[in-house]
Amino acid sequence: MNCFYLRKKFMSGNRRRRSKQKIETTTNTPDIINCSSGAPLPSTSFSTADNFSPPTNSLLREADTSRKLRIFTFAQLKTATDNFSLSSVLGEGGSGCVYKGQVESLDEPTRMVDVAVKRLKKNGFQGHREWTTEVNFLGIVDHPNLVRLIGYCAEDGERGTQRLLVYEFLCNGSVFHHLSPQSSIPLPWMTRLKIALCAARGLTYLHEEMEFQIIFRDFKTSNILLDQNWNAKLSDFGLAREGPTEEKSHVSTAVMGTLGYAAPEYMQTGHLSTKNDIWSYGVVLYELITGRMPLDRLRPKGEEKLLDWIKPYISNRNKFPMILDPRLDGQFSLKSAQQLAAVANSCLQRDPKRRHKMSDVLKVVQTIVNNAEDIPNQT
Ligand SMILES: Nc1ncnc2c1ncn2[C@@H]1O[C@H](COP(=O)(O)OP(=O)(O)OP(=O)(O)O)[C@@H](O)[C@H]1O
Ligand SMILES: [Mg+2]
Repeated sequence: MNCFYLRKKFMSGNRRRRSKQKIETTTNTPDIINCSSGAPLPSTSFSTADNFSPPTNSLLREADTSRKLRIFTFAQLKTATDNFSLSSVLGEGGSGCVYKGQVESLDEPTRMVDVAVKRLKKNGFQGHREWTTEVNFLGIVDHPNLVRLIGYCAEDGERGTQRLLVYEFLCNGSVFHHLSPQSSIPLPWMTRLKIALCAARGLTYLHEEMEFQIIFRDFKTSNILLDQNWNAKLSDFGLAREGPTEEKSHVSTAVMGTLGYAAPEYMQTGHLSTKNDIWSYGVVLYELITGRMPLDRLRPKGEEKLLDWIKPYISNRNKFPMILDPRLDGQFSLKSAQQLAAVANSCLQRDPKRRHKMSDVLKVVQTIVNNAEDIPNQT
């Protein structure tokens, strides 16, 4: 699951593992999913006002007062990861490999704690930028649904530049992995609902609960990690951006993100707002419901693009159960699945102004989870 880095001039250049498709597939992908023709909205109603918190502090000023990050030497992290051995590899993304390691606990120096160490690929300008962005943002944020950055390493030695990030280790890996066929045990329905709730909490915090706004920009299942209690946390802040100032609706940026997740207006104009994350959240909800990836070239024609494939099913109540992940094996609450699909539809409005703000989405998802928990014998 790698990111694409689309600077319009070299759109077709940087194609990577999961995003081998030509770019026109993405620009065409986001079709209108009309709320009125989809499943009914859950009973908790949305407010229509878009009411973003005004960013009053500059990120840099805030960074000065951020919590302390540990600074590691390259030698320490080499030891921690058994010399970056293959057996310690947890996964590989666009910016580099992630290794499992162990470092001394700060509270009790005799105790070792598990960490995840991301080693950025050498000489990548984009990699360096992402490293800096991640240290800046993750050094400030503090929320149970965001992965915690423990520290970093930045060394420019004879052997070149080394840029590494050290995170808390999340032992249940990524949601992407658990939805893929490689995972032997399918994610139970209640766990999927919990993931939707945790992710909504994390995004609400970024968009609305800090003194300035953060746009995550790369919300996808491989960037949602799971701890031992299956609580979900957002990871990978390399593409995050500070939101627009009070008087503006968006920031203008190069188009970056992952194929299948970016909102249509952002793909077309480079105008980035929190509404891009809300679109991506809608895509992820449909991944949780169907177990399918947003773009899958291995599917038969007509089924490759998730948002196109679901359309006829979500506009017909009787057909809706046919899109539910077959790996759930009937173990789900149809009502909560329909309600979650309704939330997804509201996030996937083609007009960004019609997408609700994240705190409103969170309220509805919370209600869905509360009601689903009342249903006995449900996985
Ligand atoms: N803190 C962590 N704890 C446990 N596993 C992690 C942690 N961070 C990353 N990983 C694992 O490493 C994998 C690679 O992560 P990485 O963010 O580099 O790539 P990606 O998300 O798959 O792709 P992309 O580069 O597009 O973000 C993840 O899918 C996850 O399985
Ligand atoms: Mg990632």
